[in-house]
Amino acid sequence: MVTMLKIALSKGRIFKETLPLLAHADIIPIDDPETSRKLILDTNQADVQLVIIRATDVPTYVEYGAADIGVAGKDVLMEYGGEELYEPVDLQIARCRLMVAGFPNAITHHKRLRIATKYINCTQRYYAQRGEQVEVIKLYGSMELAPLVGLADRIVDVVDTGNTLRANGLEPLEHIADISSRLVVNKATMKMKHAQVKAFIAKIQEAVNQRQ
Ligand code: ADP
Ligand code: PRP
Ligand code: MG
Repeated sequence: MVTMLKIALSKGRIFKETLPLLAHADIIPIDDPETSRKLILDTNQADVQLVIIRATDVPTYVEYGAADIGVAGKDVLMEYGGEELYEPVDLQIARCRLMVAGFPNAITHHKRLRIATKYINCTQRYYAQRGEQVEVIKLYGSMELAPLVGLADRIVDVVDTGNTLRANGLEPLEHIADISSRLVVNKATMKMKHAQVKAFIAKIQEAVNQRQ
């Protein structure tokens, strides 16, 4: 009997940047998620499927064992929290920085600094560590807009080239964490499918090492 290995990936940069690493493990998807509407993609390996989900849902699917393995940004993992996932490989892909950004030298009109972000847990933790009381406003995207329209004094978001900040007259102000994507593995999978997962992890780690 073949035991199926389900790997959770999100569309876009994670899928694109994970493909060459999977190819090194001789795993090639049969469909392209950018053109197919399928959410479960078969691969050239009869015992490996890719499940295509939102980036922020990857830790949930893997924690509950709906996927055995996943690829998730460290930002997403930090925000998700918990100790329920193994994180055996830093894939060194989708690299960016989690930062506080805003207008340089802006003065706040609010009693507490207002911070707009989709990373509410990371933001609360960051300011709590600094002993600063702030008001965190949850957004789901386009964070850069918030300071422009007076919704917030600052934002917490990922920054790569800085182009998005610059295009909106904002600047990076404080560095919170360096980010890259990680392989995550369900704890039960690690025990039950040990040989299969161990071989997979070794291949992926080898692919990462060869690129450095
Ligand atoms: P989403 O739809 O959730 O924004 P993305 O594909 O944009 O999904 O982001 C997936 C992961 O890639 C993020 O969790 C983060 O770790 C990383 N990332 C996000 N934006 C960038 C960027 N501009 N450059 C490099 N890596 C990024
Ligand atoms: C991400 C992030 C920033 C931007 C930073 O957005 O939310 O807006 O990249 O990258 P930069 O510093 O190189 O400009 P993304 O491109 O993922 O768009 P999204 O809104 O679809 O997530
Ligand atoms: Mg994005």
